[in-house]
Amino acid sequence: MSQKKIFLVFVAISTVSLLLHHGGHFSWTMEAFHLGCPALRSHPAAGLKPKHTNVAFLKTHKTASTTMQNLLFRFAEHNNLTVALPVQACSHQFCYPRSFTSHFVHPHTLPPNVITSHMRFNKAELQRLMPNDTIYVTILREPGSMFESLFSYYNQYCQSFKRVPNGSLEAFLEEPWRYYRPDEKDSMYARNTLTFDLGGDKDRPATDVVYARAFVAEVERVFSLVMIAEYFDESLVLLRHLLSWDLDDILYFKLNMRTPSSKRSLTPGLPAKIRAWNSLDARLYDHFNASLWRQLSALGPACVAREVRLLRRAQERLMRSCFGGRMPLLRSAAQIKNKDLRPWQPSGKVDIVGYDLPVNLSRGFSSQAQELCLKLIMPEVQYTRVLLRSQSLRYRRSYQLRSPQQSHPLQQPIRTVLPRHRSQQPPAAPGPASGTGSTSTSKPAAGTQGWTTKIRSKSSQTQAS
Ligand SMILES: *[C@@H]1O[C@H](CO)[C@@H](O)[C@H](O)[C@H]1NC(C)=O
Ligand SMILES: *[C@@H]1O[C@H](CO)[C@@H](O)[C@H](O)[C@H]1NC(C)=O
Ligand SMILES: *[C@@H]1O[C@H](CO)[C@@H](O)[C@H](O)[C@H]1NC(C)=O
Ligand SMILES: *[C@@H]1O[C@H](CO)[C@@H](O)[C@H](O)[C@H]1NC(C)=O
Ligand SMILES: *[C@@H]1O[C@H](CO)[C@@H](O)[C@H](O)[C@H]1NC(C)=O
Repeated sequence: MSQKKIFLVFVAISTVSLLLHHGGHFSWTMEAFHLGCPALRSHPAAGLKPKHTNVAFLKTHKTASTTMQNLLFRFAEHNNLTVALPVQACSHQFCYPRSFTSHFVHPHTLPPNVITSHMRFNKAELQRLMPNDTIYVTILREPGSMFESLFSYYNQYCQSFKRVPNGSLEAFLEEPWRYYRPDEKDSMYARNTLTFDLGGDKDRPATDVVYARAFVAEVERVFSLVMIAEYFDESLVLLRHLLSWDLDDILYFKLNMRTPSSKRSLTPGLPAKIRAWNSLDARLYDHFNASLWRQLSALGPACVAREVRLLRRAQERLMRSCFGGRMPLLRSAAQIKNKDLRPWQPSGKVDIVGYDLPVNLSRGFSSQAQELCLKLIMPEVQYTRVLLRSQSLRYRRSYQLRSPQQSHPLQQPIRTVLPRHRSQQPPAAPGPASGTGSTSTSKPAAGTQGWTTKIRSKSSQTQAS
């Protein structure tokens, strides 16, 4: 073994052992933070503000929100929280693009602490479902790159885009009304997608400034933090402060990305056309980008920069330890050996890349370390399925211990008629029957051992973000 290899193996082993000894927490954490950063928790010591655990994250489309969802799923699992998940008939989304209602939530995932799967936002219904101290968060992306991404991702999926000759973004923007039908299925991917996801009217004319202004104000009232995809790490730092989380809690690997060859750069003039076509989204973006930077400057640029640096460093370390001492190669889905790690592909023209783990990862890795590494890179559809299974198991186990009065009001009428919308998947069994009847413990069924072999990837998922 070369010295370099020995060193890398050493780094891998020590990172993993750190990880295990600290229950998933790294020791690189906090010392450096004290300087310059106001009101930071150093250690989970007494007297400090507890972590805020009730979070509703509105997962918008093509905005790095899959990465955020993965982060929230892991946080929830790590802290024994309940994540509201969709009923099977809704697929892995809350029956998007229908407006959210609590009937879309699987009864085994009530009462929830966290909600993050795709939905069309509906404030009243969410407030009915979620605890009253829930913090609302969402994420926006710059309209030009966002629209290019939507156009390429949903090219074969959304009729408004499919009609365009040669799949030309330029042609679409030249005469959008020639291709776009406001009431058609999937039209929300072709205009003001963010506004639509947030529950707004995507087809309000750009001249209706009163509406646009009121909509921005409403979003501002409901959401405590509007993250910006272009400043993802900075947004995470704000999130961490808002929720009193540790830096460990915001570690992530980027998920659901395209290969560079699937991306196009915008020719001059296009960004302006995209903004004009998506004027509501453009207004939202400008407003919340400005407010993000105001919040960052209130926290202190030095403090933000330091945390971002530490986050990236820790991320790289984790990456190396998970991927056998070196950075993982991004792979196209077909190259990923483990089917459970293959991201959903929107069409033959776009390549969504994912990660593969070294085949021999299991050697010398405990099942917890393996699980963390796998979860970090697990695509949305598979992770949703894993989480539903473990929560169902926990629900069934605790069911016998719970008196009926204690259950969540929405849990009472367990619905037999499920909403059906564009579900292309046959309803699958919610998970293995708990059967064994070990009711003496409320231990969550994390399903760490061998769960990867249990998940079955389906080749036809409805959609991904
Ligand atoms: C939240 O609900 C609890 C009990 O349901 C209540 O005591 C509390 O005052 C509520 N808090 C707010 C901020 O509404
Ligand atoms: C489509 O592409 C072909 C070949 O590149 C070109 O000849 C044709 O003019 C294009 N059509 C339109 C409508 O742009
Ligand atoms: C976001 O706002 C900052 C601060 O005003 C500005 O420098 C930056 O260019 C904006 N980003 C985008 C993508 O518009
Ligand atoms: C694990 O896999 C790597 C690369 O495939 C290989 O170099 C290494 O020898 C393997 N280690 C063991 C213990 O099998
Ligand atoms: C989660 O639950 C398990 C089993 O009940 C327990 O051992 C663990 O300490 C809990 N973790 C947290 C963060 O509450």
